[in-house]
Amino acid sequence: MSDTMTKNGAHFDKNLIFEKDNDTLSRFAFTHSAKQASDYLPANQVRNAELDMPNVSEVEVVRHFIELSGKNYGVDNGMYPLGSCTMKYNPKINEKISKFDSFNNMHPYSANERVQGTLEIIHECGKDLAEVTGMADMSFAPCAGAHGELTAMFIVKAYFRNKGEDRQIILVPDSAHGTNPASANVAGFKVVSVNSDADGFVDIEDLKSKANENVAAFMLTNPNTLGLYEKNIALIRDICHAKGIQLYYDGANLNAILGISRPGDTGFDLVHLNLHKSFSTPHGGGGPGCGAVGVKAHLKDFMPNYITSYKNGQYSIEHRGGLTIGQVRAFSTNFSVLVKAFAYIKSLGAAGLRMSGLLALLNANYIAALLRDTFTIATKPHIMHEFVIGLDSECHQYDISIMDFAKRILDYGYHAPTVSFPLIVHNCLMIEPTETESKKRLDDFAAVLLKIYDEMKTDAQTLRDCPTLTPVKRIDDVTAARVPIVKY
Ligand SMILES: Cc1ncc(COP(=O)(O)O)c(C=O)c1O
Repeated sequence: MSDTMTKNGAHFDKNLIFEKDNDTLSRFAFTHSAKQASDYLPANQVRNAELDMPNVSEVEVVRHFIELSGKNYGVDNGMYPLGSCTMKYNPKINEKISKFDSFNNMHPYSANERVQGTLEIIHECGKDLAEVTGMADMSFAPCAGAHGELTAMFIVKAYFRNKGEDRQIILVPDSAHGTNPASANVAGFKVVSVNSDADGFVDIEDLKSKANENVAAFMLTNPNTLGLYEKNIALIRDICHAKGIQLYYDGANLNAILGISRPGDTGFDLVHLNLHKSFSTPHGGGGPGCGAVGVKAHLKDFMPNYITSYKNGQYSIEHRGGLTIGQVRAFSTNFSVLVKAFAYIKSLGAAGLRMSGLLALLNANYIAALLRDTFTIATKPHIMHEFVIGLDSECHQYDISIMDFAKRILDYGYHAPTVSFPLIVHNCLMIEPTETESKKRLDDFAAVLLKIYDEMKTDAQTLRDCPTLTPVKRIDDVTAARVPIVKY
């Protein structure tokens, strides 16, 4: 009894399953009449000692794991104010469709005529996303956003090589997502950073001074990591294109512009999307993902190998031709991600996708409006789908860390937002509610932040000691990540 606690009227045993071993249960040991394990297996693979398994009844095993699952926090429990970046709510129906047997029991080497439906989904999804982004062609080969960026950089390199140019530099604003410079670097380019101006937009004078014929591409994360839609895109396009520089759009956070603007229309030559953010697959959890890459017509021939085409009423996968950068993965794509994206696109339609974009913007702006009188909102002037709160002076004044503030949010039943990102705002929280949250949730979450702000001023120690109401209290994040104890 001493090890139990009550939650919703049920008794939970806090012990590990190995500590729940019940000696009074009978342990059967059937021996095979004719053959022994050693008759089948080499001697060094035969177990000599008894397997050390806990002796627990089936119903106790079920209860144990159900209880453990309740200790998790997931998007089905509550809101993730770090939004599409990790776990936004995705319609369950899309997940269900992607689990259909007919999709899961396919082999990538199946003959084209036996997988017409599959090829149709890949082909049609490509057409739809080309339309959404204003591009001429899409490739679903890259498995992640960063992989999409890398693929795009290979495409840019192949394009210039084909023109007989050996451009060495990629320009990346300091407000870009961190994977942008990393991908350019891995692709063998030299990365040159472009400064942001005081409002967080690209510093046009700095860009002008760095744009020259040795630059292969300019990579723009839009909205940038401050959550701002770049206001000078037309100017940036003209500066870059005048020098032959390819314009690359990091569209990982496409939900901010879905149905509102298209990178292709604003002059971009390449784009990548995170289907595992904006199109119904969660980003968190390590995949599978799809960092779809879209390009304008002049870059089509350099796309990763294999293209799905439709001719004479038949879909087929074909080689792309001699200029392709080749394969960036085995087979054509993480198909289940495409099924979810396609189901999402078709169920929402163009108007629904636009509405999801507008709601993502409205929700972020709504929370910001509730907080604006108390917190310093670092995202100025126009908030898109996410915004950044700066708490640097408060952290110093009340001697707390931004982590203390974030951890206190857990005690109020919410996941914490992104912390200390973007790097250009010290001690910040980045909040992205996403399009699916109700007004009531947004009101409640804002009220929690305001309450913690008061606590910080009157009782900062509570913040330093929290979380107190979660199954696991304050952990040493660095040690937990670097030296995880993953076994009993
Ligand atoms: C703007 C931006 N670009 C690129 C990426 C990288 O995507 P991935 O984590 O799938 O590699 C992310 C990830 O969230 C992102 O937010």
